[in-house]
Amino acid sequence: MDVELLLKPVKILITGAHGQVGTALARLAEHDDFFQIIALDKSKLDITDVAQVQEQLAEYLPDYVVNCAAFDHIDEAEHKSELCYAVNCTAVETLALACGDLSIPMFHLSTDYVFDGHYASGYAEEDEVAPLGVYGDSKWQGEERLRQVLPKHIILRVSWLFSEQGNNFVLRTLESARSQKELSAVSDRRGCPTAASDVARVILAMLKQIHNGADAWGTYHYCGAEITNRYDFCKEILIAAGSYENFEVEKLVPISSKDYVTEAQRPNTSVLTCKKLLSVFGIRQRAWRQELQWLMRLIYQQDSGR
Ligand SMILES: NC(=O)c1ccc[n+]([C@@H]2O[C@H](COP(=O)([O-])OP(=O)(O)OC[C@H]3O[C@@H](n4cnc5c(N)ncnc54)[C@H](OP(=O)(O)O)[C@@H]3O)[C@@H](O)[C@H]2O)c1
Repeated sequence: MDVELLLKPVKILITGAHGQVGTALARLAEHDDFFQIIALDKSKLDITDVAQVQEQLAEYLPDYVVNCAAFDHIDEAEHKSELCYAVNCTAVETLALACGDLSIPMFHLSTDYVFDGHYASGYAEEDEVAPLGVYGDSKWQGEERLRQVLPKHIILRVSWLFSEQGNNFVLRTLESARSQKELSAVSDRRGCPTAASDVARVILAMLKQIHNGADAWGTYHYCGAEITNRYDFCKEILIAAGSYENFEVEKLVPISSKDYVTEAQRPNTSVLTCKKLLSVFGIRQRAWRQELQWLMRLIYQQDSGR
């Protein structure tokens, strides 16, 4: 085998590089000599722009594309469906076609929202999809386009992402706890919170194995270990952050999803089973509680540095 080839870093092009997973992935890969990262945010690569996609891929000629770009404003999607399908579906096909032309495999992220949430025990990769809204449907259609166009792909469905940036449940809870005496959270919606940094770890581990010859293309699930509900998760967030900050909030009230009306319907069970990832790649779920503690350290270190 060519030793030079073995020593050459694996070039990964990340789209949507300023999102939660995109940022975490670029940050983690930067510290790993195995990889060379080209991190492109929307201003550098708009995945809905066909010509730009073709030009950028031909210019950088990466070994892999990791698509972290998405329209994931779940309620907004209901009245901005055209944009939602353009980013989550048509653009995924555009990327896949461009990858196919250059023989570049593609990693793509999807969501538990492809399911309707009626299986209390959680969803495996082959379970029947039944999206409840525009966002979930656009992600499912995007998956399907990718499957049809590019055989060398990985689709990784994840759930309940949190990180130090963007619009996520942890940051929204902290924000509300700073200004409100009473908070409420849904107690009958179950899922597994997942740190964006943990998803980044999983993607890099999968990439390494694929690059070293694992013939394991297909669809996988990943989420943090341990099922919870929004109310208990909220409690955990306040406890974890409470060691760093005094909040206004004095009371946390559990409510039913029936009393929490949103534009888009949400699945009641967002639990993804991750057995396939373990059996094929040997990748284990990490406890989201531990990830939450690390995130708090990161958030409050950043705050104290200001
Ligand atoms: N967030 C969750 O809880 C969750 C749960 C399950 C699955 N997922 C999936 O996981 C993946 C990553 O999620 P995330 O939370 O990291 O998303 P995110 O933080 O919203 O990041 C997505 C990024 O894509 C960018 N983007 C939007 N339209 C684009 C376009 N046309 N071209 C290029 N970039 C574009 C966004 O930029 P702007 O912000 O400037 O528009 C944003 O920076 C997505 O596929 C999402 O569907 C997310």
